[in-house]
Amino acid sequence: MEQLLKQIAGYKEEVTSFMASTPDAAEEFRIKWLGTKGLVKTVMSEMKNVPADQRKEFGQVLNEFKLFVEAKYESLKETGQGNAGAGVSDIDWSLPGDPTPVGSRHPLSIVRNQVVSIFSRLGFAVAEGPEIEDDWHNFGAMNLPEDHPARDMQDTFYINRDPAWLLRTHTSSVQARVMEKQKPPIRVICPGRVYRNETISARAHCFFHQVEGLYIDENVSFADLKQTLYFFVQEMFGKDVKIRFRPSYFPFTEPSAEMDISCLICGGSGCNVCKHTGWVEILGSGMVHPKVLENFNIDPEKYTGFAFGMGVERICQLKYRVNDLRLYSQNDIRFLKQFTGAV
Ligand code: DAH
Repeated sequence: MEQLLKQIAGYKEEVTSFMASTPDAAEEFRIKWLGTKGLVKTVMSEMKNVPADQRKEFGQVLNEFKLFVEAKYESLKETGQGNAGAGVSDIDWSLPGDPTPVGSRHPLSIVRNQVVSIFSRLGFAVAEGPEIEDDWHNFGAMNLPEDHPARDMQDTFYINRDPAWLLRTHTSSVQARVMEKQKPPIRVICPGRVYRNETISARAHCFFHQVEGLYIDENVSFADLKQTLYFFVQEMFGKDVKIRFRPSYFPFTEPSAEMDISCLICGGSGCNVCKHTGWVEILGSGMVHPKVLENFNIDPEKYTGFAFGMGVERICQLKYRVNDLRLYSQNDIRFLKQFTGAV
């Protein structure tokens, strides 16, 4: 009896200090202690040799010992020690976790945000306007005469003819919205989506994105326009990029100019992207036409201003060398995920 109690105390110590370092070890533990020929059964069988008057007391000790071993086995199974639980419970702790896919910004959003950030450093605020516009804000106020070809049904998606409601064809309409509400000094940029009735191809789409800029104050000159856009180009594309202005025509500016940058792809030596000219057009610009100012009761004798409008897809194409416009709206994850990491 004395000896049996000693043995059980020894077993208890052994059980306590047992650490399962592999899933198999926990199973071995079960067989050794709780199996049909296990040690718990063996000590239990000693019961018959115990004198009758000590059976009750001894029975308690044995029972307690059995529960103790069972609890140990449960804990080996449930929590595992190191990897011990692996395979014993249903959870394989050694498996790597499920990856959580991280989304990315659309390349057009990345570029738009960059444009906004560069101009905001020059004090330009963001202004927005509706995509469904009336004739006045899209055309009339911007000095587009009634018979201007841009008003043609072929270019413009009309929602209603009379009165005319349409999908804006350019973000210049936001200039009108701003001048309606605000008096000079005005310094805004207006990012947004625009629509034109074009057949979809690699080079044209029925909707795309522009950023419009408008700066009106006393003594604003063409030199300010040039310097502002030069700053923008250097921030956007790098210090080595050159700019050039070509005279152009827009009804809402006089004089008007288109701005080219030296080709980023070939560095100016000539390639397919720049059609072997070394230059790529990126925006239209000019001094705000006096008639446009008058439309909003801004005195053209006192105030002058410049405006510009650029295509976001075009800038994106140059930055990321994407040569098919359709990719921007197909939302193919294989295309989009290449921009992960950009902000
Ligand atoms: N609205 C013109 C377009 O869609 C772009 C443009 C040119 C905007 C000259 C301007 C500007 O503000 O001054 O092609």
